Formats: sequence, C-alpha cells, structure tokens
Amino acid sequence: MNVSLTNLETLAIDGGTPVREKLLPYGRQSIDEADVEAVVEVLKSDWLTTGPKIGEFEERFAERVGTRHAVSFSSGTAALHGAAFAAGLGAGDEAITTPLTFCATANCILYQGATPVFADVSSDTLNLDPERMSAKLTPRTKAILAVDYAGHPAALDELGELAHEQGALLIEDASHALGAEHHGKRVGGIADMTVFSFHPVKHLTTGEGGMVTTNNARTAETLRRFRNHGISSEARQRHEAGQWFYEMVMLGFNYRLTDLACALGLSQLAKLDANLTRRREIAAQYKTAFRDLPAVIVPAVRDEVNPAWHLYPIRLKLEMLAVGRGEIFRALRAENIGVNVHYVPVHLHPYYRQRFGRKEGEYPVAEAAYERLISLPMFHSMTDTDVGDVVKAMRKVLSCIQWKFAKEGERLQTFGSGKSK
Ligand SMILES: Cc1ncc(COP(=O)(O)O)c(C=O)c1O
Repeated sequence: MNVSLTNLETLAIDGGTPVREKLLPYGRQSIDEADVEAVVEVLKSDWLTTGPKIGEFEERFAERVGTRHAVSFSSGTAALHGAAFAAGLGAGDEAITTPLTFCATANCILYQGATPVFADVSSDTLNLDPERMSAKLTPRTKAILAVDYAGHPAALDELGELAHEQGALLIEDASHALGAEHHGKRVGGIADMTVFSFHPVKHLTTGEGGMVTTNNARTAETLRRFRNHGISSEARQRHEAGQWFYEMVMLGFNYRLTDLACALGLSQLAKLDANLTRRREIAAQYKTAFRDLPAVIVPAVRDEVNPAWHLYPIRLKLEMLAVGRGEIFRALRAENIGVNVHYVPVHLHPYYRQRFGRKEGEYPVAEAAYERLISLPMFHSMTDTDVGDVVKAMRKVLSCIQWKFAKEGERLQTFGSGKSK
C-alpha cells in the first residue's frame, strides 16, 4: 500500500482538504447481480414467505457452520429472544453477559422477564472474562450470553464449562463472528446455541435477519415454534398435507424470515468465504500500517482463534495524547473516514442506569476500553485504496494533534513523513 502524505498537512476539520472526497462508511453491504436475480426469482414464485427457501437457507447455513440445526429469525434481536426463551429464562432467573455489546444482547434477557447480570471483559479481546464471569454465578444463573466482540470468538471452552457446572446454558451472540473459528472449529457448532445477525453491515445480509444454530433437536423445535406464534406446525407443512388444522401450544411471536430474505441469504452465503478472506486481508493491512503509530493499539488475536473481523476497533493510548477520543473521532470524520464507536457500555444507557441503578466504575475494563475505542471502516468490498485512505487519515490526524509529553516549543509532533502544522 502506497501512503503518501503530500499536501495533507492541514486537517480537514481546520479547513484543509479531506483525505477523501466522499465518506467511506465503517461498514456496508455488497449486493451483486446474482443476489438481485435470486430475490427476483422468489418475487415471481408462489411463496414470498413460509416457502421452500427458508428450509434451504437453514440447511445450507447449518452445513456451513458445522451444526445440526439452524432456525432463521426476522432479525438477530428476534433470534436472541428465541435463544433466551429456548434456554428457559424467566422471572427470577439471571443471565450473565458483557457490558461491551449492542444493547440487544442484554435486552433479550429482559424480554423474558429475567435479570441481566454484567461481568467485565478481558483487557486484550474485550470479550467476557471467564474469571470475572464466574464470580457472578449464582444458583439463579440460567444462561451465559457471551459475545464474539468484533468477530473474535469469546473464551468458549472456559465459559461453556463454567456454565454447565452451574447447570446453565452457554448462548453465544456471534452476530459479529460468522465464519470465525475457535480451536479449529467453526463458530455455530460450539455453544449450546449460537446467534447470528444478517444486518447489512454483517458478513452476510438478508436486509434484516438472524439465525440460531444448535445441535439439540428439541431446542431447534422450540425455536421453530417460538418464531411462529407458538404454533406446532408450519403453513407449508399444512399446505402439503392438505390440512387446515393447527394448534397453538405455547405463546410465540411472528419472527419469521421471508423467502425473499432467505433467497438473498443463500446467494450471499455462496460468497462468504471470499468475503472473509478479504476482511482478513484488510485486518492484516491495518496491522502492518499501524505498527509505527505508538498511540494506536490494534485488536488482539489469541492463538486459538481465527477471527471473522466484523469490526476493526482500535484503541487509542490516551495517556500519550493531549486530546481525547472525541477530537480524534471528529477529525477523522472530517477527513471523510466513517469511523464509529462500538459500544456505549450497556449498563451506562439511561434505561439500565434507571431500572437497575447501574453506574460508572462498575466494569472498569469495559469502560476504559469504551473511552479509547474507534472502529475503523471494515467491509469486504473495501479496496486497497480505501484502506490506504484510512491509514493516511489516521497518520494525518495523529501527526497534527498535541502530544502530552512533547517539550515546550515542540507542541506538535509528526510521524513518518507527515508534516506538522
Ligand atoms: C452483538 C450484537 N448482537 C445483536 C445484534 C442485533 O442484531 P440485529 O440488528 O440483526 O437485530 C447486533 C446488531 O448489530 C449486534 O452487534
């Protein structure tokens, strides 16, 4: 990658020319002609929903992640709700999860009337820390909800063992981790239930959509009923059997994914390997490019995993900088680099503060990470030029900011060939 810094000395936020003319988003979908044709074919068919594409998508998905059953849902959030229900969570139960996630992970515990209990994360991966998690186990713990933050699988073996010793289930929120591996095994067939999201910024999209995978046939059956009003048979089965009779055997929801969405999912699934390869290339390019930027900590990768790189969250060494994450974030946005922050720790959202009395300082590792995190653009259709622009913008911004320990008269310090202002 050729990163030149000529004429970029004035930050765009100070009126200089931005690194890019148009905003590079932090994530986006890729839709090709094959995807369009697959959806159009369903549009012209008899089944827009509850048709044959659903079973086909679920079967292929289960094969791809190496599990027996895959049950599709209308979103990752609905899939999480399904998993919380199938785990038997209810009033009086607790489920332990990470504060450093999208709020849907914890919300699904509340949907079931159970109590979310947060445990802090490990400082390298920012995933649920097994030791801190085990300190939160009680006889009321019914599930552990681990998140594969940014696409790096959680400590699934340790978490699974600890959960099972307590008679609880391990639910893996792998919304970031389709295609990731842990000890050579694909995410999807490891935890008791694994949840995926097919939101457009993910590795595979169906617009909105989600999936729960499991090796347990009874769990899969419960999940199927839950997403279909609690009815014991599906419309297509009744159609094929020439029957009208159905029974609602439990309270469920309409969380079905349509045939249109499943056709898109099938078409996207065929490109998953290529997309993962590209994301891994981008992660490697970033890692190399930031080697000489001491204020940037790139994401850690443990030996036993092959991450899927949904996000590329760097952490800033704020101790070295005289400006905060906010200034750097705004400067990068002004350069038209669509940075983002993942995540506002869940316990600090007003709803969680007010309802559970949660406050700052309770999960110091997650909170310190949050203060320092910036997600750089990461999506499979990013070109080498796009990656180069992100690197250029990072160098430009970091070369123009103030350094805490710079000597008097050396207010600004530069890296590499960057010029100070
Ligand atoms: C970790 C995590 N869990 C759950 C979800 C919810 O998925 P969905 O948007 O498909 O409902 C997301 C969405 O981004 C997520 O990042």
